[in-house]
Amino acid sequence: MLPDILKAGPANVSARLGLKTQAASDHDAVKRHFPNTYGMPIVKFVKGKNPEAAKKTVRVGVVLSGGQAPGGHNVIAGIFDALKKANPKNKLIGFLGGPLGILENKTIEITGQLIDKYRNTGGFDIIQSGRAKIETPEQFELVRKNLVENNLGALVVIGGDDSNTNAGLLAEYFKKEKVNISVIGVPKTIDGDLKNEHIETSFGFDTASKIYSELVGNICRDVNSARKYWHFIRLMGRSASHITLEAAFKTQPNLTLIGEEVLAKNMTLSEVVYYILGIIVKRSEQKKNFGVALIPEGLIEFIPEMKELITALNDVLAENESSLNALTSIKEKDNFVYSKLPEQLAALMKSIPGDIREQLMLDRDPHGNVQVSQIETEKLLAEMTGSKLAQLKKEGKFAGKFQAMTHFFGYEGRCGAPSNFDANYTYTLGYNSALLALNELSGYISSVKNLTKSAKQWECGGGPLTMMMNIERRKGKEKPVIQKALVKLDGEPFRELAKHRESWAMTESYLYPGPIQYFGPSSVTDMTTKTLEYEQKKK
Ligand code: FBP
Repeated sequence: MLPDILKAGPANVSARLGLKTQAASDHDAVKRHFPNTYGMPIVKFVKGKNPEAAKKTVRVGVVLSGGQAPGGHNVIAGIFDALKKANPKNKLIGFLGGPLGILENKTIEITGQLIDKYRNTGGFDIIQSGRAKIETPEQFELVRKNLVENNLGALVVIGGDDSNTNAGLLAEYFKKEKVNISVIGVPKTIDGDLKNEHIETSFGFDTASKIYSELVGNICRDVNSARKYWHFIRLMGRSASHITLEAAFKTQPNLTLIGEEVLAKNMTLSEVVYYILGIIVKRSEQKKNFGVALIPEGLIEFIPEMKELITALNDVLAENESSLNALTSIKEKDNFVYSKLPEQLAALMKSIPGDIREQLMLDRDPHGNVQVSQIETEKLLAEMTGSKLAQLKKEGKFAGKFQAMTHFFGYEGRCGAPSNFDANYTYTLGYNSALLALNELSGYISSVKNLTKSAKQWECGGGPLTMMMNIERRKGKEKPVIQKALVKLDGEPFRELAKHRESWAMTESYLYPGPIQYFGPSSVTDMTTKTLEYEQKKK
């Protein structure tokens, strides 16, 4: 479903330019990186004749970047429909396999027949995705060459914060080089951490958190039926804990860890374990030797000492690659690493169960980051809690039972069929991005707002990418990047959790949301996230 404002098609929607903008912070430094595109005005689409947008014939490129998120196919469908509505001769070209497809000039034309097979489906398989990074001047030049060769007037980049930062850099490069190609971004990521004044939520967060909540709810019901296990469930979401928080609202488990809180309280790994242990012991005193604990994927990096350990390990692994590869046994590798770490980090490393130690030493991703989705934090916490409880039992301080089950819900949430909300939102984001391109705007992200209202009332336009940026240190250099939105501890969603968690800890207030509903009353089928609802309530 399209919002009313876009229904009349590109020739009947005009772009109203608003006020000039500023970067999220570090204004001058960001401006220095974007002399040609800094400070552009906000764009709002309003009703109005705009024959220019439909006059020319254009070819637009599209690329999917990074992790999958439900609704990606509908973004492409929205772009396709807007282009064809403007002028049936317009063409949409997909780059295959993510940004690498642009560098290698691997394309496919998106035809009506092709896109019809993918409408309202999950996944990114229509053109696939990838995590290649376009960053060197040679790569920028190659992108220019390939886009020009394809005779493109615009490129739509569907991606997360890093990919949209790149879209902004590419727009700046084209302006500087006087290349007439617009670059438009679309906010994608199940993690929900690409959000700000002009992006109320990234697409995919709604569906993924609903899928995880269904699974967590099923476990809550199992727990409440069997009453014999503690389930430790890790949920995806690389860094920010938004997905875990949302799943907590939808299922009301006994324990929810929020990485951002752990960081703010400067908690050690053993303090986190003691926090968990406290709830387990209290419940067992009421003969409740069961429960559900939610753990965000990014927790491990939010524990300051663990972050320090991971950073030190990154260096040790990078600096001693060949010596480590020459060692055959795990014991030898462990001892080698201990010898290279500062004493207190070596002690921390030794306190971690062996299989998790191995995971911490796994290969890094192309950006040098530890691959958090492969570290089984749920097992780490369950094992450490279990051994502390065993010790307490010996000392006569714990009379209960503790049997833990562990789970990781990650990849099962990223390619599910989009919820009604995500299906509408992604189609609108795509349609809207095509409108920005047809209006020859560049360096903007597709912005659709008013999302807690019915899709008919959504507001459409564009937010300048530079206004979402700040300066961060990456690989030892100051770089302009889109600011990541972590869970705010003074924000309404976290406060809501803080209000209820003590009572959820001791009771079985579980909710069982069940599968995503596509038919029925709109209050159920079109319901979006609690996170968005609480955030909007504050305004
Ligand atoms: P994006 O930020 O690219 O959308 O990816 C999100 C994510 O699903 C994270 O939640 C997860 O940590 C990561 O991707 C997993 O990456 P990979 O698909 O490379 O294993």
